[in-house]
Amino acid sequence: MNKLSLPSSSKLLNQDFVFGVATSSFQIEGAADSRLESIWDTFCATPGKISDGSNGLVACEHIKFWQEDVELIESLGVDAYRFSISWPRVVKKDGTLNEKGMQFYIDLVDELLKRNIKPFVTLYHWDLPQHLEEQGGWLNRETAFHFEHYVNLVSKALGDRVYAYATLNEPFCSAYLGYESGEHAPGKTGQGNGRKSAHHLLLAHGLGMRALRRNCPDTLAGIVLNFTPCYPETQADMEATKLADEYVNQWYMRPVMEGLYPDVIDLIDPQNRPDIFPGDMDLISQRLDFLGVNFYTRLKYRSDGKGWYEELQPKGVPITDMGWEIYPKALSELLISLHQRYTLPPIYITENGAAMQDEIKQDKVNDQDRIDYFQSHLNAVDYASEQGVDIAGYFAWSLMDNFEWAEGYEKRFGIVYVDYLTQSRTIKNSGLAYKQLITSR
Ligand code: FCB
Repeated sequence: MNKLSLPSSSKLLNQDFVFGVATSSFQIEGAADSRLESIWDTFCATPGKISDGSNGLVACEHIKFWQEDVELIESLGVDAYRFSISWPRVVKKDGTLNEKGMQFYIDLVDELLKRNIKPFVTLYHWDLPQHLEEQGGWLNRETAFHFEHYVNLVSKALGDRVYAYATLNEPFCSAYLGYESGEHAPGKTGQGNGRKSAHHLLLAHGLGMRALRRNCPDTLAGIVLNFTPCYPETQADMEATKLADEYVNQWYMRPVMEGLYPDVIDLIDPQNRPDIFPGDMDLISQRLDFLGVNFYTRLKYRSDGKGWYEELQPKGVPITDMGWEIYPKALSELLISLHQRYTLPPIYITENGAAMQDEIKQDKVNDQDRIDYFQSHLNAVDYASEQGVDIAGYFAWSLMDNFEWAEGYEKRFGIVYVDYLTQSRTIKNSGLAYKQLITSR
């Protein structure tokens, strides 16, 4: 079918609904020699951490090919481009602005605006400067204040030319994968590390919001959270599943929306609790102009028989190349449940997409599986919107194939195929279908 479609009555087809594509700095930029090192450089250089032994030194060479990439984005007919700023590219070790690094993003934003593409800027998509990690990274409360300083510099330089700023991308991943399970940079482990870094990340969000409000009060400001909805294996696993949801999802959502950690915090060892200073939760729960929701999959859980939960591997169900279950219903259920549970600002689906085993043949990638994934998830978003959830936009992850963190370059999420030997970009059929949907409005 090679097509994406929505019913003509769908609110997603309104002219003001934002369709976009997303990337992040470390995953596409390359040109590592013109910035400071980040924790991901160090992590990639540690044997065994990245499945194909690769790194972000070259990636998609976006710093070199950014003008072509902007043309590519324009050719897809999208309304918006979500990208992130590399902290180690724009702030020097002494805390002053790296003018040359910043100029790259100023030029990028100007070029997007010239083409009527709304810039959605993420301020932190995981590439913490390595020198800050050496002072404890997100385990050090001071890092949150360094972040505020960085946001201050960026938001002064870019100001209200940016359509929307997100402080953080997926603090769950930075804290849990980075400091608790150790699958991501900087590869630290332990519950205490995970919980403490999460609090400092949330604090950084609050301090970042404060800087954004000061410097560009008319630009949208918010945060991007990832949600992996939790489902019980059986009725008997409901309680355990609720704990999992509080530990992985609500741990970030509730502080941001309500200034409180979920009840599960009382079940963890008191030694692992973060130090919460007076005023922290007020900073963390400042009003948002939007909430970014990243969604890929759901997970099932069962009780471990000891008052905690166990995660189950998907079995006998459709999965993507990441091994993630394809279950679009969880997206509508998630959006509706968030809407029922919280007083939400407008929502942007800031990431949704799938890694598939793409094959390029005669300059074409017939990724029908990815088109199917997008279609079923767009239907899920449409359904939630019909049920009254205020959804303002949808971003495909990703504009192009890129460095997929611990999976290196083996997993391809792009709607554009990247040949890493030649750096040539080829729009996949999913990209063509996305364009067709967007431009048919
Ligand atoms: C998200 C990340 C993004 C990308 C996708 C597949 O967790 O935000 O950078 O890697 O997963």
